[in-house]
Amino acid sequence: GRQGISTGQTVIPQTDHPNGEVNITVLFGSQTGNAEKLAEILHSKLQSAGFNATLQSMGSYKTRQLKSEQFLFVVVSTQGEGDPPDSAQLFYEFIQSKKAPNLSALRFSVLALGDSSYEYFCKIGQDFDTRLEALGGQRFYPRTDCDVDYEETADAWFDELLNQLSKERKVSEAIVSSSTSLASSTITSYSKRNPFSAILLENLKITGRGSSKDVRHIELSLEDSALSFEPGDSLGILPSNCPELVAELIDTLAINPETIVTDSKREKTTLQQALLHHYEITTVTRPFLEKIAAFSGSKELGQLFQEENRDQLRSFIYGREVIDILHHYPLPGITAEQFIGLLRKLPPRLYSIASSYRANPDEAHLTVGIVRYQSHGRDRKGVATTFLTERIGKEEETIPIYIDSNKNFRLPEDPDRAIIMVGPGTGIAPFRAFMEEREVTGAQGKNWLFFGDRHFHTDFLYQQEWLDYRKNGLLNQIDIAFSRDQEEKVYVQHSLLKRSRELYAWLEEGAYFYVCGDAESMAPDVHEALLTIIEKEGQVSREKAIEYLNNLQQNKRYQRDIY
Ligand code: 2AM
Repeated sequence: GRQGISTGQTVIPQTDHPNGEVNITVLFGSQTGNAEKLAEILHSKLQSAGFNATLQSMGSYKTRQLKSEQFLFVVVSTQGEGDPPDSAQLFYEFIQSKKAPNLSALRFSVLALGDSSYEYFCKIGQDFDTRLEALGGQRFYPRTDCDVDYEETADAWFDELLNQLSKERKVSEAIVSSSTSLASSTITSYSKRNPFSAILLENLKITGRGSSKDVRHIELSLEDSALSFEPGDSLGILPSNCPELVAELIDTLAINPETIVTDSKREKTTLQQALLHHYEITTVTRPFLEKIAAFSGSKELGQLFQEENRDQLRSFIYGREVIDILHHYPLPGITAEQFIGLLRKLPPRLYSIASSYRANPDEAHLTVGIVRYQSHGRDRKGVATTFLTERIGKEEETIPIYIDSNKNFRLPEDPDRAIIMVGPGTGIAPFRAFMEEREVTGAQGKNWLFFGDRHFHTDFLYQQEWLDYRKNGLLNQIDIAFSRDQEEKVYVQHSLLKRSRELYAWLEEGAYFYVCGDAESMAPDVHEALLTIIEKEGQVSREKAIEYLNNLQQNKRYQRDIY
């Protein structure tokens, strides 16, 4: 990012520039809050440069305002399989629909957030970008796609927008460059860029012997960190890679591990250290493969990027990691510097915190399912889950962490409100935090938990705690669905449907509904079950049920933390 003015003085916007002339709307669609945070930064930069800017969420944006927009800067993220954030769903549908207005007076630019390890990387941002143009809008500045390390890319987009605007509006450069940038903002506390080194207090296997899963209850110490968090927040972990895998990669490349390279923080280090700590060396992303195709000159690989070969590309990537690609497409003569140029930064891993700060100050608990599987004849392991549970205390002493707050997953402000929690598998984590919080604060609202996993005997995570809460009255209802204890599969959505009438009564009384866990099939299935319940118990049409659920969502009474 660019340096700010170093005098420490407040820069006062000139009064003679035509600030009243243009209206700028910064419109965000955010799931966990990153897009919102970036939109807030852009908004305040625009304001301090003297522009008439307003900040709006897609969740509450009045669509009839759209046709009178002059400048629209969109910041929007893409969820797992190419979906918009929950709160942006309706606006996204609107803009795609025939109801969307002609926008020939509009100038716009889109900042798309995403994760390049997913097939539909930044799809929602791309859709907005294409659609705004199709509706007649003029692209003010090219769309910018951000990967998980979005800070610098977003900074550059902010700078360019402000530059361009200032050129047009002749706002003084001094004003434009005055605000601090994301990448270089002064560090006041521990953060993603300046993580806290946490000590591991506990690493306890909570699935029983014979379980097909290895789930750990992890406790980390936050002592002396001054970090705190709210129930619903996540913990960001900056893991390092498996040393054996790093050694194998270096071996395959036939480069000296001590070769000096410039890492992602622009500091000099050895190839080995860079691969251990700074770069992603497992997940195969599309940008990585494109670079491999260019470097190796492979026609076969190059063809996979054509739209009609989407399925082939997906199945080629499936179950493969960087090491497999190197075996497939060797890169003879590649230098250390060139090789790390193919990789993306090692992204932090986020875990929903399973404890309440008020109940356990100075600690953060996690519920971690260890990832281990086989594919293409090799044993694979999850980067962060094995880092946390196997390498701490051996290769590494402490765990670099930060708090990633999530204001879209929060207990009701009113402690008397009832909550319904759906958290199968490790999706249980934030609900343990919710219950601890409600116990320690004495919240009077009713609590209902739906939990599911494979087997009652081995996979009932935190069983004793739930039973204790049930006994002492904090937990009013608990419904469990063990999928593999009988012939036919029983899932949480089946439990929801079974409790249809009472569940609807809770919703009618104002209960909040929370879902945490698998985004690919569980969350959509639970969504569908909810619609069915509303149709049936409310005796309304499908359309009305959808409206009911949208309404809940807009009132923050339907919140999801899914991955
Ligand atoms: P399964 O593995 O037996 O299919 C936690 O992982 C629990 O979620 C498991 O019992 C798992 O069942 C279950 N699960 C898998 N797919 C699901 C879906 N679509 N909806 C709800 N639960 C699901």
